Amino acid sequence: MSIKTPLMPRDRMILLIVRLLLWLPAVVLLLAAITDNLSVNPIQAAVQRTGLTAIILLGLSLASTPVKIFTGWPILIPLRKIFGLHSFYYAAAHMLLFVVLDYGMDINRLMADAAGKPFIIVGVAAFLILFLLAVSSNRPAMVWLGRNWKRLHRLVYLAAPLAGLHFAWALKGNLATLSGNILWPVVYLFIVFILLIVRIPVVRRYISAMRSE
Ligand code: HEM
Repeated sequence: MSIKTPLMPRDRMILLIVRLLLWLPAVVLLLAAITDNLSVNPIQAAVQRTGLTAIILLGLSLASTPVKIFTGWPILIPLRKIFGLHSFYYAAAHMLLFVVLDYGMDINRLMADAAGKPFIIVGVAAFLILFLLAVSSNRPAMVWLGRNWKRLHRLVYLAAPLAGLHFAWALKGNLATLSGNILWPVVYLFIVFILLIVRIPVVRRYISAMRSE
């Protein structure tokens, strides 16, 4: 288990500001919904916006450790958790908006439809991983899981590409032929790929060595 680096008061202030800023997309969405400014299909717009926020925060969470290796900024360790947890909150809102507003909680109809829509199955898989990571992101869970905590949290390396795949499919893009509305999902998946590459121990050691030169 890693020893916590004490944070400077300035870093604590930055974390507080980041936490507050991460609520901004929810507030903007709520205001747009209340003032009837959410496009002609408000449910779809809300599902899309929360999905986009969730996937961006998941990418930021995944990027935190590589950027920490490169820069040495200790603040990136708590930021990784904050981004990860907020990604889960937005993914939960995304899923609930879809299940409650779009499907009226009709789980049987949803399951029947999901069978013909693999992007939903992939989204559910990514969501379940985010759920597991979120509920185990606390000290008692860390102590209880011991060495398995790190193993469990490696599932984020699976959640990120799954979310990228879900994103591509949701936009009706085809990753095999790179056709359709595929630009942003491909950019996302490419960044995820690079972030996974820099986790490979030999690459990681090389980056650390470059930093200490
Ligand atoms: C139970 C799990 C999930 C369900 C049922 C679900 C459902 C959906 C649906 C129905 C759409 C299409 C919205 C539309 O254009 O009409 C969508 C799009 C999307 N979802 Fe999910 N999703 C799930 C999990 C996730 C997760 C875990 C993430 C990210 C971490 C995510 C990110 C996205 C993104 C980025 C889009 C595309 C938004 C856009 O059109 O710009 N979803 N999802």
